[in-house]
Amino acid sequence: MFERAEGGERALLLLPRWRAQADPSAEEEFAELARAAGAVVVGRVPARLERPHPGLFVGTGKADELKAAKEAQGAELLLVNAALSPVQERNLERHLACRVVDRTGLILDIFAQRARTHEGKLQVELAQLKHMATRLVRGWTHLERQRGGAIGLRGPGETQLELDRRLIAKRIAILERRLAEVERQRSQARRARLRRPLPLVAIVGYTNAGKSTLFNRLSGSSVFVADQPFATLDPTVRRIDGWPCGPFALADTVGFVRDLPHELVAAFRATLDETRDADLLLHVIDASDPECERRIAEVDQVLAEIGAAEIPRILVFNKIDRLGEEPMSAPETTPPRRVFISALDGRGMDVLARAIAEALAGRRLRGELWVPAEEGALRARLHALGAVREERPEEAGWWLMVDVREEEARRLLGRFPGFAAWWRRQTEPVPLGSPDAA
Ligand code: GTP
Repeated sequence: MFERAEGGERALLLLPRWRAQADPSAEEEFAELARAAGAVVVGRVPARLERPHPGLFVGTGKADELKAAKEAQGAELLLVNAALSPVQERNLERHLACRVVDRTGLILDIFAQRARTHEGKLQVELAQLKHMATRLVRGWTHLERQRGGAIGLRGPGETQLELDRRLIAKRIAILERRLAEVERQRSQARRARLRRPLPLVAIVGYTNAGKSTLFNRLSGSSVFVADQPFATLDPTVRRIDGWPCGPFALADTVGFVRDLPHELVAAFRATLDETRDADLLLHVIDASDPECERRIAEVDQVLAEIGAAEIPRILVFNKIDRLGEEPMSAPETTPPRRVFISALDGRGMDVLARAIAEALAGRRLRGELWVPAEEGALRARLHALGAVREERPEEAGWWLMVDVREEEARRLLGRFPGFAAWWRRQTEPVPLGSPDAA
């Protein structure tokens, strides 16, 4: 039986160029991913391909070139910027006599290193097992050693491969059960949070754009920051106080990446959920990245796919300290708002703070309100604002279903004591668009 070659740190990159199309920034990002996984990139081998070769992924000529490059550079590992079939991966490993990891495997490796919350770890392990399940060679017996409880699975006459498959299937079933439980708890926690009047602001953006740095600056707390993609896998949420707009919750999320392998999408769920529930998105962009317009589009596309397209957002162009003396153009304000900052040195943070306060003021509140007959002026005012959704005359007043912009509601506080009292009692406004707002 073929044994996997030992992996190592010195990595050679295989960069497929489909129909001779090179994409330098995608190739650079792949090199970044390799470094983020802890590899030292010792060489890059581009390969023009029309379609993948079923056996070796590349043609035999290219495979020989890879072998020569591997030996010349002393590489211990080949990283391929594409998804390989299990057969291709194994054949390449045999041909090169070194470990071969494809794009999915590489991203999974990074996720595994970075996952911090219980749910994040479960999601990553599940994705890893599913990836493994299709790549059964030998060497999964570590599952047995680590988890225990596998001994009863071993039957007489059972091959190693069958045993491996059963171990993995069993572990996958356990993980799926646990994840379902975690998800149930999460949705309860989310409902509880939605009932609080705390708006949620989520920081999103391309990996390495500076989300964690901005999160730290805004929250004054420290989450893990590193000059590597995916420094954050799980959402981190902080309560922010002392701002003119009142308190709000701030969430940091995992970085987006182009061409995220399909199997890995589930591992993002934890952060995507957070994003979908937000009242406001801060889309952080590395302004010093020449490809930034394209990356903005990529993030927008993913946001649309997860149902977050309608959430108001501020485009936060970060790292302006890297742009030298060039004056920043000041494009249109709404929508979307654009703000230029340096999360590192704090430039532009005052403008960002104003933009956040303004955007949150646009939040809507909805609730039931009883207006006594003597406060007919309040009722008239709410009608004038178009804030009355339903109305029923009641003894000595009216019952109203009110849907009002928070900003407008605040203006009524001073003028109508009855409304102010309602406002104070209104500890559980539910943001529109939430599951509870039906
Ligand atoms: P992921 O968690 O991987 O998605 O990354 P992130 O978007 O959270 O980026 P992070 O905050 O970890 O920052 C990435 C790198 O950019 C770090 O080396 C930061 O120090 C650097 N960085 C962040 N903001 C700025 C900035 O305003 N200017 C400069 N020059 N560097 C910055």
